[in-house]
Amino acid sequence: MGFFRKLMLPLAELSVVGSYGRGGYRLRSPDFDPADLAVDLRGERHVVTGATSGLGLAAAHALSALGATVVMVGRDAEKLARAVEGVPGAVGERCDLSDLEEVGALAARLGKQPLASLVHNAGFIVPERRLTRQGHESAFATHVLAPFVLSHRLMDRLAQAPRTGRLVWVSSGGMYSQKLDLAKAEALHGTYDGVRAYAQHKRAQVLLSESFQRLFEARGLGVASNAMHPGWVDTPGVEVGLPRFYRRMKRWLRTPEAGADTIVWLCARPTPPAAGRFYLDRKARRTEIVPGTRHDDGDRARLWELCARLTGIDVAAPRGRVRGRGPCGRSP
Ligand SMILES: NC(=O)c1ccc[n+]([C@@H]2O[C@H](COP(=O)([O-])OP(=O)(O)OC[C@H]3O[C@@H](n4cnc5c(N)ncnc54)[C@H](OP(=O)(O)O)[C@@H]3O)[C@@H](O)[C@H]2O)c1
Repeated sequence: MGFFRKLMLPLAELSVVGSYGRGGYRLRSPDFDPADLAVDLRGERHVVTGATSGLGLAAAHALSALGATVVMVGRDAEKLARAVEGVPGAVGERCDLSDLEEVGALAARLGKQPLASLVHNAGFIVPERRLTRQGHESAFATHVLAPFVLSHRLMDRLAQAPRTGRLVWVSSGGMYSQKLDLAKAEALHGTYDGVRAYAQHKRAQVLLSESFQRLFEARGLGVASNAMHPGWVDTPGVEVGLPRFYRRMKRWLRTPEAGADTIVWLCARPTPPAAGRFYLDRKARRTEIVPGTRHDDGDRARLWELCARLTGIDVAAPRGRVRGRGPCGRSP
Protein backbone atom coordinates (compact mmCIF):
# COMPACT_ATOMS: atom_id res chain seq x y z
CA MET A 1 0.00 0.00 0.00
CA GLY A 2 1.39 3.41 -0.95
CA PHE A 3 2.42 5.81 1.81
CA PHE A 4 -0.37 8.27 0.96
CA ARG A 5 -3.09 5.60 1.18
CA LYS A 6 -1.61 4.21 4.40
CA LEU A 7 -1.81 7.68 5.91
CA MET A 8 -5.22 8.63 4.52
CA LEU A 9 -7.22 5.42 5.08
CA PRO A 10 -7.60 5.83 8.86
CA LEU A 11 -8.40 9.52 8.38
CA ALA A 12 -11.12 8.62 5.88
CA GLU A 13 -12.67 6.34 8.51
CA LEU A 14 -12.77 9.26 10.95
CA SER A 15 -14.11 12.04 8.73
CA VAL A 16 -17.58 11.97 7.22
CA VAL A 17 -16.69 13.80 3.99
CA GLY A 18 -13.53 11.72 3.57
CA SER A 19 -15.43 8.49 4.10
CA TYR A 20 -18.69 9.11 2.24
CA GLY A 21 -17.37 11.29 -0.56
CA ARG A 22 -15.55 10.10 -3.65
CA GLY A 23 -12.21 10.15 -1.80
CA GLY A 24 -13.38 7.37 0.52
CA TYR A 25 -14.17 5.13 -2.41
CA ARG A 26 -10.90 5.95 -4.13
CA LEU A 27 -8.90 5.11 -1.03
CA ARG A 28 -10.70 1.84 -0.26
CA SER A 29 -11.37 0.38 -3.69
CA PRO A 30 -7.76 -0.72 -4.39
CA ASP A 31 -8.21 -3.21 -1.52
CA PHE A 32 -11.34 -4.75 -3.06
CA ASP A 33 -10.86 -8.37 -4.12
CA PRO A 34 -11.35 -8.57 -7.92
CA ALA A 35 -12.35 -12.25 -7.54
CA ASP A 36 -15.52 -11.09 -5.76
CA LEU A 37 -16.94 -9.74 -9.00
CA ALA A 38 -15.29 -12.17 -11.41
CA VAL A 39 -18.60 -14.01 -11.60
CA ASP A 40 -20.90 -15.19 -14.34
CA LEU A 41 -24.50 -14.34 -13.48
CA ARG A 42 -26.02 -15.79 -16.63
CA GLY A 43 -29.32 -17.50 -15.85
CA GLU A 44 -29.87 -15.42 -12.68
CA ARG A 45 -32.74 -12.98 -12.19
CA HIS A 46 -31.98 -9.86 -10.09
CA VAL A 47 -34.68 -7.32 -9.20
CA VAL A 48 -33.70 -3.67 -8.65
CA THR A 49 -36.31 -1.12 -7.58
CA GLY A 50 -35.87 2.53 -8.51
CA ALA A 51 -33.81 1.41 -11.48
CA THR A 52 -34.65 4.35 -13.76
CA SER A 53 -31.87 6.64 -12.53
CA GLY A 54 -28.94 7.12 -10.18
CA LEU A 55 -27.77 4.15 -8.13
CA GLY A 56 -30.49 1.75 -9.28
CA LEU A 57 -29.66 2.34 -12.93
CA ALA A 58 -25.92 1.97 -12.27
CA ALA A 59 -26.54 -1.29 -10.35
CA ALA A 60 -28.72 -2.60 -13.20
CA HIS A 61 -25.95 -1.85 -15.73
CA ALA A 62 -23.30 -3.55 -13.57
CA LEU A 63 -25.39 -6.69 -12.91
CA SER A 64 -26.29 -6.93 -16.59
CA ALA A 65 -22.59 -6.62 -17.51
CA LEU A 66 -21.99 -9.70 -15.33
CA GLY A 67 -24.59 -11.60 -17.36
CA ALA A 68 -27.65 -11.28 -15.10
CA THR A 69 -31.18 -10.74 -16.29
CA VAL A 70 -32.14 -7.58 -14.44
CA VAL A 71 -35.75 -6.81 -13.65
CA MET A 72 -35.88 -3.03 -13.45
CA VAL A 73 -38.74 -1.60 -11.41
CA GLY A 74 -39.83 1.98 -12.06
CA ARG A 75 -42.95 4.06 -11.58
CA ASP A 76 -42.94 6.08 -14.79
CA ALA A 77 -43.67 3.95 -17.86
CA GLU A 78 -41.80 6.13 -20.37
CA LYS A 79 -38.77 6.67 -18.17
CA LEU A 80 -38.70 2.95 -17.41
CA ALA A 81 -38.85 2.00 -21.10
CA ARG A 82 -35.94 4.36 -21.85
CA ALA A 83 -33.86 2.96 -18.98
CA VAL A 84 -34.56 -0.68 -19.88
CA GLU A 85 -33.57 -0.02 -23.48
CA GLY A 86 -30.03 0.88 -22.37
CA VAL A 87 -29.45 -2.23 -20.21
CA PRO A 88 -28.77 -5.40 -22.24
CA GLY A 89 -31.19 -8.23 -21.48
CA ALA A 90 -33.16 -6.25 -18.89
CA VAL A 91 -36.91 -6.31 -18.47
CA GLY A 92 -39.07 -3.55 -17.02
CA GLU A 93 -41.78 -3.80 -14.38
CA ARG A 94 -43.85 -0.69 -13.83
CA CYS A 95 -44.92 -0.11 -10.25
CA ASP A 96 -45.44 2.91 -8.02
CA LEU A 97 -44.04 1.46 -4.81
CA SER A 98 -45.91 3.96 -2.66
CA ASP A 99 -49.17 2.27 -3.68
CA LEU A 100 -49.50 -1.01 -1.79
CA GLU A 101 -52.05 -2.36 -4.25
CA GLU A 102 -49.54 -1.95 -7.07
CA VAL A 103 -46.85 -3.52 -4.84
CA GLY A 104 -49.03 -6.60 -4.29
CA ALA A 105 -49.59 -6.92 -8.04
CA LEU A 106 -45.84 -6.55 -8.68
CA ALA A 107 -45.07 -9.32 -6.17
CA ALA A 108 -47.55 -11.59 -7.91
CA ARG A 109 -45.94 -10.90 -11.31
CA LEU A 110 -42.39 -11.44 -9.97
CA GLY A 111 -43.05 -14.45 -7.83
CA LYS A 112 -43.06 -17.12 -10.51
CA GLN A 113 -39.40 -18.07 -10.89
CA PRO A 114 -36.37 -18.13 -8.56
CA LEU A 115 -34.80 -14.78 -7.79
CA ALA A 116 -31.08 -14.31 -7.14
CA SER A 117 -31.50 -10.92 -5.48
CA LEU A 118 -34.00 -8.25 -4.57
CA VAL A 119 -32.58 -4.75 -4.14
CA HIS A 120 -34.73 -2.25 -2.25
CA ASN A 121 -33.25 0.86 -3.80
CA ALA A 122 -36.16 3.20 -4.67
CA GLY A 123 -36.02 6.29 -2.52
CA PHE A 124 -36.49 10.06 -2.38
CA ILE A 125 -36.83 13.10 -0.13
CA VAL A 126 -39.90 15.28 -0.53
CA PRO A 127 -40.52 18.64 1.13
CA GLU A 128 -44.18 18.09 1.92
CA ARG A 129 -46.44 15.30 3.16
CA ARG A 130 -48.32 13.39 0.48
CA LEU A 131 -50.78 10.65 1.29
CA THR A 132 -51.19 7.49 -0.75
CA ARG A 133 -54.48 5.91 -1.80
CA GLN A 134 -54.20 3.69 1.29
CA GLY A 135 -53.68 6.73 3.55
CA HIS A 136 -49.96 6.25 4.28
CA GLU A 137 -47.35 8.99 3.98
CA SER A 138 -45.87 8.29 0.56
CA ALA A 139 -42.16 8.19 1.49
CA PHE A 140 -42.89 5.86 4.43
CA ALA A 141 -44.89 3.59 2.14
CA THR A 142 -42.13 3.55 -0.50
CA HIS A 143 -39.14 3.12 1.84
CA VAL A 144 -40.62 0.87 4.52
CA LEU A 145 -43.99 -0.71 3.71
CA ALA A 146 -43.30 -1.68 0.09
CA PRO A 147 -39.98 -3.42 0.92
CA PHE A 148 -41.68 -5.16 3.86
CA VAL A 149 -44.38 -6.55 1.54
CA LEU A 150 -42.00 -7.48 -1.30
CA SER A 151 -39.54 -9.17 1.07
CA HIS A 152 -42.32 -11.32 2.49
CA ARG A 153 -43.92 -12.15 -0.79
CA LEU A 154 -40.65 -12.97 -2.57
CA MET A 155 -38.58 -14.67 0.16
CA ASP A 156 -39.49 -18.15 -1.08
CA ARG A 157 -38.36 -17.20 -4.58
CA LEU A 158 -35.07 -15.88 -3.17
CA ALA A 159 -34.63 -19.12 -1.24
CA GLN A 160 -34.94 -21.05 -4.51
CA ALA A 161 -31.92 -19.33 -6.04
CA PRO A 162 -29.14 -21.83 -6.81
CA ARG A 163 -26.70 -19.67 -4.83
CA THR A 164 -27.82 -18.06 -1.55
CA GLY A 165 -30.49 -15.46 -2.42
CA ARG A 166 -29.67 -11.87 -1.52
CA LEU A 167 -31.92 -9.21 -0.03
CA VAL A 168 -30.30 -5.76 -0.18
CA TRP A 169 -31.58 -2.60 1.51
CA VAL A 170 -30.13 0.63 0.12
CA SER A 171 -30.17 2.66 3.30
CA SER A 172 -28.14 5.81 4.00
CA GLY A 173 -25.60 7.30 6.38
CA GLY A 174 -28.41 9.78 7.13
CA MET A 175 -29.87 7.07 9.36
CA TYR A 176 -27.03 7.65 11.87
CA SER A 177 -28.72 10.91 12.89
CA GLN A 178 -31.91 9.25 14.14
CA LYS A 179 -33.05 6.84 16.81
CA LEU A 180 -36.08 5.04 15.41
CA ASP A 181 -39.28 6.80 16.44
CA LEU A 182 -42.34 5.22 14.84
CA ALA A 183 -44.44 8.42 14.92
CA LYS A 184 -41.68 10.37 13.14
CA ALA A 185 -41.23 7.52 10.65
CA GLU A 186 -44.94 7.24 9.84
CA ALA A 187 -44.99 11.04 9.59
CA LEU A 188 -48.77 11.34 9.51
CA HIS A 189 -49.16 14.17 12.03
CA GLY A 190 -47.54 17.49 12.91
CA THR A 191 -45.20 19.57 10.78
CA TYR A 192 -43.69 17.45 8.04
CA ASP A 193 -39.90 17.32 7.98
CA GLY A 194 -38.94 15.41 4.82
CA VAL A 195 -35.26 15.03 5.69
CA ARG A 196 -36.04 13.72 9.17
CA ALA A 197 -38.68 11.32 7.79
CA TYR A 198 -36.15 10.06 5.23
CA ALA A 199 -33.50 9.45 7.92
CA GLN A 200 -36.11 7.62 10.04
CA HIS A 201 -36.99 5.40 7.08
CA LYS A 202 -33.35 4.66 6.38
CA ARG A 203 -32.90 3.67 10.05
CA ALA A 204 -36.05 1.53 9.76
CA GLN A 205 -34.58 -0.26 6.72
CA VAL A 206 -31.53 -1.29 8.76
CA LEU A 207 -33.80 -2.73 11.48
CA LEU A 208 -35.95 -4.54 8.92
CA SER A 209 -32.88 -6.00 7.25
CA GLU A 210 -31.79 -7.42 10.61
CA SER A 211 -35.30 -8.74 11.34
CA PHE A 212 -35.57 -10.43 7.95
CA GLN A 213 -32.19 -12.05 8.50
CA ARG A 214 -33.48 -13.44 11.82
CA LEU A 215 -36.59 -14.71 10.04
CA PHE A 216 -34.57 -16.40 7.27
CA GLU A 217 -32.36 -18.10 9.86
CA ALA A 218 -35.36 -19.18 11.96
CA ARG A 219 -37.04 -20.67 8.88
CA GLY A 220 -33.83 -22.20 7.55
CA LEU A 221 -34.07 -20.23 4.28
CA GLY A 222 -30.92 -19.77 2.23
CA VAL A 223 -31.26 -16.00 1.92
CA ALA A 224 -28.88 -13.31 3.20
CA SER A 225 -30.29 -9.89 4.12
CA ASN A 226 -27.99 -6.89 4.35
CA ALA A 227 -28.33 -3.12 4.45
CA MET A 228 -25.79 -0.79 2.90
CA HIS A 229 -24.85 2.86 2.57
CA PRO A 230 -23.70 3.94 -0.90
CA GLY A 231 -21.78 7.00 0.31
CA TRP A 232 -22.63 10.45 -1.07
CA VAL A 233 -23.40 10.02 -4.73
CA ASP A 234 -24.05 12.43 -7.58
CA THR A 235 -27.59 11.44 -8.58
CA PRO A 236 -30.78 13.25 -9.62
CA GLY A 237 -32.23 12.25 -6.23
CA VAL A 238 -29.62 14.28 -4.32
CA GLU A 239 -29.77 17.21 -6.73
CA VAL A 240 -33.54 17.52 -6.37
CA GLY A 241 -34.00 16.31 -2.78
CA LEU A 242 -31.06 18.15 -1.17
CA PRO A 243 -30.31 21.09 -3.53
CA ARG A 244 -28.17 23.11 -1.11
CA PHE A 245 -26.12 20.08 -0.06
CA TYR A 246 -25.73 19.17 -3.72
CA ARG A 247 -24.44 22.63 -4.75
CA ARG A 248 -21.97 22.72 -1.88
CA MET A 249 -20.72 19.12 -2.15
CA LYS A 250 -21.01 18.38 -5.86
CA ARG A 251 -17.28 18.08 -6.48
CA TRP A 252 -16.86 15.63 -3.59
CA LEU A 253 -19.68 13.29 -4.60
CA ARG A 254 -19.08 9.79 -5.93
CA THR A 255 -20.14 8.57 -9.33
CA PRO A 256 -23.28 6.38 -9.38
CA GLU A 257 -21.06 3.44 -10.40
CA ALA A 258 -18.88 3.87 -7.29
CA GLY A 259 -21.98 4.27 -5.08
CA ALA A 260 -23.56 1.14 -6.59
CA ASP A 261 -20.41 -0.96 -6.16
CA THR A 262 -21.38 -2.36 -2.75
CA ILE A 263 -24.94 -3.11 -3.97
CA VAL A 264 -23.53 -5.16 -6.84
CA TRP A 265 -20.98 -6.83 -4.55
CA LEU A 266 -23.72 -7.87 -2.10
CA CYS A 267 -25.78 -9.32 -4.97
CA ALA A 268 -23.00 -11.00 -6.91
CA ARG A 269 -20.17 -12.14 -4.63
CA PRO A 270 -19.88 -15.94 -4.99
CA THR A 271 -20.28 -16.52 -1.24
CA PRO A 272 -22.60 -14.00 0.38
CA PRO A 273 -20.94 -11.49 2.71
CA ALA A 274 -21.81 -11.96 6.41
CA ALA A 275 -25.54 -11.29 6.76
CA GLY A 276 -27.59 -8.97 8.96
CA ARG A 277 -24.95 -6.24 8.61
CA PHE A 278 -24.69 -2.64 7.39
CA TYR A 279 -22.04 -2.17 4.69
CA LEU A 280 -20.17 0.76 3.20
CA ASP A 281 -17.50 0.12 0.58
CA ARG A 282 -17.69 -3.67 0.99
CA LYS A 283 -17.04 -3.53 4.73
CA ALA A 284 -19.49 -4.04 7.61
CA ARG A 285 -19.92 -0.87 9.66
CA ARG A 286 -21.43 0.09 12.99
CA THR A 287 -25.12 0.88 12.98
CA GLU A 288 -24.86 3.64 15.55
CA ILE A 289 -22.43 6.52 15.95
CA VAL A 290 -24.52 9.28 17.55
CA PRO A 291 -25.18 8.65 21.26
CA GLY A 292 -28.78 7.66 22.01
CA THR A 293 -29.54 6.25 18.55
CA ARG A 294 -28.81 2.57 19.22
CA HIS A 295 -31.70 0.20 18.49
CA ASP A 296 -32.53 -3.09 20.17
CA ASP A 297 -34.81 -6.12 19.86
CA GLY A 298 -37.77 -4.12 21.23
CA ASP A 299 -37.38 -1.43 18.53
CA ARG A 300 -37.17 -4.08 15.84
CA ALA A 301 -40.28 -5.84 17.15
CA ARG A 302 -42.32 -2.60 17.39
CA LEU A 303 -41.39 -1.62 13.83
CA TRP A 304 -42.19 -5.10 12.54
CA GLU A 305 -45.58 -5.13 14.28
CA LEU A 306 -46.45 -1.72 12.83
CA CYS A 307 -45.54 -2.88 9.31
CA ALA A 308 -47.44 -6.14 9.80
CA ARG A 309 -50.56 -4.26 10.96
CA LEU A 310 -50.43 -1.69 8.13
CA THR A 311 -49.85 -4.28 5.39
CA GLY A 312 -52.01 -7.10 6.74
CA ILE A 313 -49.05 -9.52 6.75
CA ASP A 314 -49.60 -11.62 9.83
CA VAL A 315 -46.11 -12.86 10.73
CA ALA A 316 -44.81 -12.57 14.30
CA ALA A 317 -41.75 -10.36 14.83
CA PRO A 318 -38.59 -12.48 14.63
CA ARG A 319 -36.51 -12.22 17.80
CA GLY A 320 -33.04 -13.23 18.91
CA ARG A 321 -29.58 -12.72 17.56
CA VAL A 322 -28.40 -12.97 14.02
CA ARG A 323 -25.66 -15.61 13.85
CA GLY A 324 -22.26 -14.16 14.71
CA ARG A 325 -23.60 -10.79 15.85
CA GLY A 326 -23.84 -8.89 19.09
CA PRO A 327 -27.24 -8.25 20.66
CA CYS A 328 -27.93 -4.74 19.37
CA GLY A 329 -27.32 -4.98 15.67
CA ARG A 330 -23.64 -4.21 16.21
CA SER A 331 -21.12 -5.43 13.76
CA PRO A 332 -18.23 -7.39 15.23
N1 LIG B 1 -27.33 9.54 -3.78
C1 LIG B 1 -26.89 9.47 -2.55
O1 LIG B 1 -25.94 10.17 -2.14
C2 LIG B 1 -27.52 8.51 -1.60
C3 LIG B 1 -26.97 8.42 -0.32
C4 LIG B 1 -27.54 7.52 0.57
C5 LIG B 1 -28.61 6.72 0.17
N2 LIG B 1 -29.12 6.86 -1.08
C6 LIG B 1 -30.25 6.00 -1.43
O2 LIG B 1 -30.06 5.46 -2.71
C7 LIG B 1 -31.31 5.14 -3.29
C8 LIG B 1 -31.32 5.61 -4.73
O3 LIG B 1 -31.28 7.03 -4.73
P1 LIG B 1 -30.53 7.89 -5.86
O4 LIG B 1 -29.64 8.82 -5.14
O5 LIG B 1 -30.01 7.01 -6.92
O6 LIG B 1 -31.74 8.78 -6.39
P2 LIG B 1 -32.51 8.81 -7.80
O7 LIG B 1 -31.55 8.98 -8.91
O8 LIG B 1 -33.57 9.84 -7.64
O9 LIG B 1 -33.16 7.38 -7.91
C9 LIG B 1 -34.27 7.03 -7.14
C10 LIG B 1 -35.07 6.01 -7.89
O10 LIG B 1 -36.19 5.62 -7.09
C11 LIG B 1 -37.35 5.70 -7.90
N3 LIG B 1 -38.57 5.89 -7.12
C12 LIG B 1 -38.83 6.88 -6.24
N4 LIG B 1 -40.07 6.72 -5.74
C13 LIG B 1 -40.59 5.62 -6.32
C14 LIG B 1 -41.82 4.96 -6.23
N5 LIG B 1 -42.80 5.40 -5.42
N6 LIG B 1 -42.01 3.84 -6.96
C15 LIG B 1 -41.05 3.38 -7.79
N7 LIG B 1 -39.86 3.98 -7.92
C16 LIG B 1 -39.64 5.08 -7.20
C17 LIG B 1 -37.08 6.86 -8.83
O11 LIG B 1 -37.99 6.84 -9.89
P3 LIG B 1 -38.29 8.18 -10.76
O12 LIG B 1 -37.13 8.23 -11.70
O13 LIG B 1 -39.59 7.89 -11.42
O14 LIG B 1 -38.33 9.32 -9.80
C18 LIG B 1 -35.64 6.56 -9.20
O15 LIG B 1 -35.57 5.53 -10.17
C19 LIG B 1 -32.37 5.78 -2.42
O16 LIG B 1 -32.97 4.81 -1.60
C20 LIG B 1 -31.57 6.75 -1.56
O17 LIG B 1 -32.15 6.89 -0.29
C21 LIG B 1 -28.60 7.73 -1.97
